[in-house]
Amino acid sequence: MKASSVSFQAAVVFVIVGMVWGLIMAISGDHSAMPAHAHLNLLGWVSLFLFGIYYRLHPLLDRHRSAMTQVGLWIVGTVVQAVGVGLVHTGHESGEPFAAVGSLMVLASMLLFAWLVFRNERAGLPSHSATAPAE
Ligand code: HEM
Repeated sequence: MKASSVSFQAAVVFVIVGMVWGLIMAISGDHSAMPAHAHLNLLGWVSLFLFGIYYRLHPLLDRHRSAMTQVGLWIVGTVVQAVGVGLVHTGHESGEPFAAVGSLMVLASMLLFAWLVFRNERAGLPSHSATAPAE
């Protein structure tokens, strides 16, 4: 499977979970888990969907194993971080190691993405727009 397909599918799952979480916060009036909700939506929905768009625009990179590794690491890191931050902000100190490990995972994933972007941009590999037929 392509990295972009995994990104798009995981992103819509994350945003549905994030929105339900937001509704639960709003209905209950307990906003203490708000930082976890915000991170889940911004890492799991916004960032992941943006990765998917970049990979979809670069078909050679989209099929590369390193792109799939980057997306997989991001997905696992997002879940671990959201659980950890959620626990910490609802008074469970046991969540701290999860928040820390999840944060390091998404940082490592972003460093890998940055490396892929620099390598791809400098190599001048064909992008989707470059291969599209002229009107
Ligand atoms: C059904 C959809 C959603 C509901 C019901 C919802 C609900 C909430 C609630 C109740 C808060 C706490 C506000 C506060 O305590 O000040 C919040 C905060 C937040 N939400 Fe959502 N949310 C939803 C979707 C989203 C989405 C899709 C995103 C991002 C793409 C998002 C990003 C954020 C952020 C960044 C904050 C923190 C805002 C701040 O720092 O004041 N939310 N949301």
